[in-house]
Amino acid sequence: PAEQRPAPLFVSTSSTAVALAAPAKLNLFLEVLGRRRDGYHELATLMVAIDWCDTLEISLGAEGERYLECEPAGSVPCGPENLVWRAAELLADRAGRKAAGWRMRLSKRVPSQAGLGGGSSDAAAALVGLQRLWKLALTNEELLAMGAAVGSDVPFFLAAPVGWCTGRGEVVAEERMACPLHFVVVCPPVGLATSRVYAAVKLPAVPRDGSGVREALRRGEVSALGECLFNRLQEPALELEPLLGRLHRRLAQAAPFGACLSGSGSALFALCRSRSEAVHVAEKFLRQQPADEPRSRVVVVQSLAPDRTCKEK
Ligand code: C5P
Repeated sequence: PAEQRPAPLFVSTSSTAVALAAPAKLNLFLEVLGRRRDGYHELATLMVAIDWCDTLEISLGAEGERYLECEPAGSVPCGPENLVWRAAELLADRAGRKAAGWRMRLSKRVPSQAGLGGGSSDAAAALVGLQRLWKLALTNEELLAMGAAVGSDVPFFLAAPVGWCTGRGEVVAEERMACPLHFVVVCPPVGLATSRVYAAVKLPAVPRDGSGVREALRRGEVSALGECLFNRLQEPALELEPLLGRLHRRLAQAAPFGACLSGSGSALFALCRSRSEAVHVAEKFLRQQPADEPRSRVVVVQSLAPDRTCKEK
């Protein structure tokens, strides 16, 4: 079996505290194959972790202690509803460590409700960090199952920096990527709730095949990859939020291979051939922003593999 290379990156470790970088992701391809009886949708999606990260610091607490601090304050719900809290509770429960106390500090950089997987990545970081601090000997399968119980995207962040994900997204097959990829990510000032976008999706009569996008990624053919970018959730997302349609049009005009929604949105991205091209596209997009349009956040990023480092954006 392949060695586990969890995407959350250890920034520092001691016997009582760890800090992890929790990267965001982009979906280069997302097809919805059908509705399931459990309310979820059957998916086929290609996910790539990017070098834009939240940071999660975890330390051992007093017996029974649960303390979560989020910064900037108010950026995300900071109680039991936060996915890092849910992940910690689940791990403590399944590992028989209910009395083990923890303290966490979550520095949010990646916007929420953006389709960038920020909350899921934070949860993966909590599982990996607490597993280390509590010296748990969990198998890969046990960790992945816990991730899936917290959210459909969590196993991707536990498994691979690049993954072909099926099921409801939680079945991850590691993919190879021939070269680093460069993107411009546009984060509108409005978020989209995942469940709303899925509820509005129209199922395709004939689903798109993802073999072209996987092959282009493996070969490192950026132009071919650019032509294969696709997201079935884009149409319902743009219908739910008209601002996205305007941003999509402008980004598509500024970028070499058009623009695509990530996950269930609201973030859009454009694939570029180099970092300098991405900077150029971002500048062009920003120049064309009408004065009366609500400001979007525009960030130039790179795929996380193979160097696996996160930078401040
Ligand atoms: O798994 P997660 O909690 O991230 O999913 C959030 C919501 O997104 C689900 O409650 C469901 O409405 C929708 N979803 C879906 N099909 C998927 C993944 C998510 O319908 N494969």
